[in-house]
Amino acid sequence: MSLPYPILTAEEAAALINNGQTIGFSGFTPAGSPKAVPRALAVRAKAEHAAGRDFKIGVLTGASTGPSLDSALAEAEAISFRTPYQSSSILRKQINAGKVRFVDMHLSMLPQAVRYGFLGKVHWAVVEACDMTPGGGIVLTTGVGAAPTYLREAEKVIIELNASHPASLLGMHDLFEPADPPVRWEIPIFHASDRAGSPIVVIDPAKVIGVVLTNEPDETKEFSEATPTTEKIGQNVAEFLSAELRAGRIPKEFLPLQSGVGDVANSVLAALGKDTSVPAFEMYTEVLQDSVVPLIESGRCSFASTCSLTLSPEAMKHVTSNVAYFKKHILLRPQEISNNPEIVRRLGIISMNTAIEIDLGGNVNSTHVMGQQMMNGIGGSGDFTRNAYMSIFSCASTAKGGKISTIVPLASHIDHTEHSVSVVITEQGVADLRGKDPHERAELIIENCAHPDFKEGLRKYLHLTKQGHVPQSMSLAFAMHRQFLNTGDMHNIDWENQPK
Ligand code: COA
Repeated sequence: MSLPYPILTAEEAAALINNGQTIGFSGFTPAGSPKAVPRALAVRAKAEHAAGRDFKIGVLTGASTGPSLDSALAEAEAISFRTPYQSSSILRKQINAGKVRFVDMHLSMLPQAVRYGFLGKVHWAVVEACDMTPGGGIVLTTGVGAAPTYLREAEKVIIELNASHPASLLGMHDLFEPADPPVRWEIPIFHASDRAGSPIVVIDPAKVIGVVLTNEPDETKEFSEATPTTEKIGQNVAEFLSAELRAGRIPKEFLPLQSGVGDVANSVLAALGKDTSVPAFEMYTEVLQDSVVPLIESGRCSFASTCSLTLSPEAMKHVTSNVAYFKKHILLRPQEISNNPEIVRRLGIISMNTAIEIDLGGNVNSTHVMGQQMMNGIGGSGDFTRNAYMSIFSCASTAKGGKISTIVPLASHIDHTEHSVSVVITEQGVADLRGKDPHERAELIIENCAHPDFKEGLRKYLHLTKQGHVPQSMSLAFAMHRQFLNTGDMHNIDWENQPK
């Protein structure tokens, strides 16, 4: 292929980027995230710092990234501002130490926030492609994220052309960018498999400053083996959905599923695949994890609309070697569309996300440990939860070797309020909160979802709360958190003798 663009090394590309500039990177999770240019930028930042000069950039992405982006840049202390989501342990430490300004955003809202100018100027788009045309056509790779918006909004563009992704990915993408108010129309997607946009992004070729040739797979990690706890959660979710179907509260054709990130989410999908009382289903989701690949091949998952293929290296190889087959069953969309509230509400999506903690009212904390320490971010969980046909949150009933109860009186940070959360599921059981008042919710959550070690304490708390619409006590609500912070264990709270 002959392209009318300069071929640059990653170092030459990194040298073009100035201190204080903002870069929009393609991809969503490690899938489709640039690798060589951010790594070279990290080296450059270290050299600038060694020479006594400032060098930090603003980093906009789709979601989390691979280690060559967030971790390498954080390790080089090269990030001043970061949004909308991350999962790098080194970056997380800098965010929690106040060294990096991090804005935790709903992922569907990021592209429009960029277009509205809420996040300032985007100086560069650095985007991974598997193919390009001389006229400004770009075929994205395994994760879309906000790439179409960054490519259009950025002043200048650098492309990482990655030979590790086949050019035959062409056709797996459906790239639609809505117009902005006051002239926004409906998004013409009425089924998970509907196409609304273009398979490629086309930009002004004059904006492409250079192309960096790479050949590197996505930096996705292997999934952990399922544990008895994650398997039991998965089974509880599958049995609950199957019972809802039998009760006629889910239409017999079933409804599209959204499933969150992580090992719990992976196990939930594996369990749903095995439960043949649940019919073959579609997915309308933001990440596609390993467990879905065999479900597509066995016909259990008939179609998956997603923003990224967040697959282990082995599963990715399998999909890209059989790309013609998988193109019939998978569409990759920008996050503004994969997570769009209008479509989530229209399609009647059943959302399934994971919580850090859940309180007795059904409020969910997805982001901040002990109310303070950022874990990853809200991601797409809010986009789906608030608009879902039915929103499910699951987690193990305890964390940190059993010392923490994930069921607490009042969540120490709230991402999803009681108004948006329909069902809570742990390995202990299911609390169906629909149509329940705050007292009924609290009892159901304690009796069905809390770990036996913490049930009696939570019952005592409930007993001590004053009458009101919501059973909470402002003086006792954080007693479990307070004790954990003081002693490292939430067990055996002395409820009667808490500081007032
Ligand atoms: N208190 C303290 N730590 C807790 C905790 C609690 N109540 N609950 C979980 N954790 C810790 C775990 O111990 C684990 O820590 P480690 O990494 O040091 O082992 C970590 O949080 C992850 O928990 P885990 O049980 O392994 O679950 P997970 O991998 O499924 O992740 C979330 C759970 C909530 C962190 C993750 O799903 C997330 O970031 N969600 C927000 C974004 C989202 O929902 N996106 C969905 C759309 S795709």
